[in-house]
Formats: sequence, structure tokens, C-alpha cells
Amino acid sequence: MSAPNKSYDPVEVEALKPEEIERMRDEALAAFAAAGDLEQLQEAKVAHTGGTSPLALANREIGALPPQAKAEAGKRVGMARGAVSKALAARQSELEAERDARVLVEEAVDVTLPYDRVPAGARHPLTTFMERVADVFVAMGYEIAEGPEVEAEWFNFDALNFTPDHPARQMQDTFFVQGPKGTEGGGTSQASGSGGESGVVLRTHTSPVQARAMLDREPPVYIVCPGRVYRTDELDATHTPVFHQIELLAVDEGLTMADLKGTLDHMVQSLFGADMKTRLRPNYFPFTEPSAEMDMVCYVCRGESVGNPDRPCRTCGSEGWIELGGCGMVNPKVLTACGVDPQKYSGFAFGFGIERMLMFRHNVEDMRDMVEGDVRFTRPFGMEI
Ligand code: DAH
Repeated sequence: MSAPNKSYDPVEVEALKPEEIERMRDEALAAFAAAGDLEQLQEAKVAHTGGTSPLALANREIGALPPQAKAEAGKRVGMARGAVSKALAARQSELEAERDARVLVEEAVDVTLPYDRVPAGARHPLTTFMERVADVFVAMGYEIAEGPEVEAEWFNFDALNFTPDHPARQMQDTFFVQGPKGTEGGGTSQASGSGGESGVVLRTHTSPVQARAMLDREPPVYIVCPGRVYRTDELDATHTPVFHQIELLAVDEGLTMADLKGTLDHMVQSLFGADMKTRLRPNYFPFTEPSAEMDMVCYVCRGESVGNPDRPCRTCGSEGWIELGGCGMVNPKVLTACGVDPQKYSGFAFGFGIERMLMFRHNVEDMRDMVEGDVRFTRPFGMEI
């Protein structure tokens, strides 16, 4: 039997000498400590723990040693590597904490800084709602018609069969831009349109567009006119001197009150729901005969508050109906004044205020909210198109 090879002294393997291992370990620890950021630490990690690092190379030498020496060297290298990876992990978390603290400071958002973006605007609910109503009629084949807001007194009153002494002409209702016969900015309160030159007014309703449409077109005429109107009212919770109306006019052969009623029902059903309906109550307007006041079923309580004290409705005052506006069959005198033969054609018309309708449709309690231009009022309607 051959004796063990005593001439091989493991202590002589340079890389495995205790002081060498210690040096490698200390160099690694020093490199980690010197790394100023995570990137440098990564480089040190590769250099001191990677596959070609001194400790890894030393580790490879162990296999060649005899058992006793192998165990000792293995323990030495293992402890050194353990210390190195512990130091690496400690430095890693130290540098990560430093980085996180720095990011927190550098990327901090000061929520108290002034807001510098221009807030997105929103279309005014009166505009969107007016368009929505007009669309109901456009879908039925009606044409949108427009007229001037500064209107001849003749169109605003005379053509519509308002007699010269009709109270609506008086100064307390009508803004006169120019009185009759050229009187500047006023004239008499009994501003007569008869005989002399017509004055100029801010239109008090959209009905003059009826007269303009009939004079412009040959029947059949089917028009809808959304627009701004003016009256000398004080601004309060239920009045505004500038408001909006929608006017409808149909002139054709054989139109009757039944067509008017069907059109009104269709409108309220399109705007408020399929179970809606309208009712007509006799009234007087100079430009329609017969004339009626139109009501619709209360949008809020749907009539359920009537005779039901447990369920009162503020919107309709527990009446079950809400007054919408005026309507009727176009007065033959108006047809004649506008060049339409009343023997051949008949027509129906209606008009109502948009502000009022918007108020009960959206529970707006004060009309001033609609005119004051505060974006806090309009913004919730911003998604409506
Ligand atoms: N122009 C009327 C007003 O402002 C409303 C009105 C009533 C319009 C009857 C019409 C109508 O077209 O037929 O009070």
C-alpha cells in the first residue's frame, strides 16, 4: 500500500491561507462600505461574490484538499462568504433606505401649491337642455328657425294679433329699444303699433319667429325655435329679465287640435319618460284660437301626491300637474297677416319657458343659480352633451 502523499501541504495553497481569506473578506467588506449608491454596490457585489471573485475561486480550491484540511478550509471560506453576504445585505438595505428617503424628498408633491390648470368648462345646462328639446322635433322632421332678439314691434305684437292697447305692450313688460315713430329708447307706455311706424323691442317671446317663418316659407311649415327673450322683470328666485323659450309652429292642410295634443304628448314622453302625458286647459292668447294652457303630469311625484297627505310634492304643490306653457290653433288672422290662406291651411303652435322646465327637471330651487354663471352650478351638468 502506498502511504498518503505527505509532501502535499494544504497550508501551502496560497488562496486558502487564513490571512488570505481574511484579506478577501475584508476587501469585500471595505468595498461594500465604500459603495455610495446601489449601482456601486451592485459592482462591488459582482466583484466580491460573483463566480470569478477571489472567494469563489478560493472555494474551488477546497475540493483538492485532503479531508481534514478540506474541513478546515471549507469552514474558513464558508465563514468568510457568510460574513460577506451578510455585510452585502446590510449595506443593500441601508442604501435602499437612503434612496427611498431621498425619493420622498425629491419627488414630494406639495398638495398645498396653487392649482395651475385651467379647469375644464362645461356647457350651460340651459343650452344642452334647449338643444335636447329642439332635437325631439328635429327627429320628427321640424326645421330649426331663428329670429332676431332685437325685434320689430310689428313682428312681436301686431302680426300676432295683439291689439294696440294690449297690456303686454306696455313699458312695464316690454323693453323698448325704440318707441314707435322714432322716439328714442322708450316712447309712451301705450306704445302703439297701429298706423304709424313700428317701434323696436327686445322680443318678449319667441312667437314672432312664427310670423317670420310663415312669411319666409310656403306651407307646409314645420319649425321649432329655441331662443332668448326679454321682459322687464326683476331677478328673483322665480323670475329673470332674460330667459329662454322654445316655440313650435306647424302649418299644413288639415291640422287639428288632436295633432297638437299628440305632438305635446310625444315631447313630454321623449323628455321625461314613456308614462308622461299632457292636458290642455282653456286660456286666451291673441295669436291662437282656440288657445290653451298646457300642463304635464308632475315629473317628480307622477301624480301620486294628489289626495295623499302622506306624500306631499313640493314641485307641483300636490296638484299632480305642472304648467308648461301656452298653445293653440294658429289664429286665422295671424295666418292672413303672414300671407297664408286660412281657407286652405290650419296650424298649431306652442311655446314654453326653458328655465322653468329645467328647474323642475333638475330640482333647481332658485332661478338666479342659472344666470349667475357660477361654475359650481354648471359643472355637475358637464357630462351632458
Ligand atoms: N308666446 C307666449 C308667451 O310667451 C307663449 C305661447 C302661447 C306660445 C301660445 C305659443 C302659443 O306658440 O300658441 O307667453
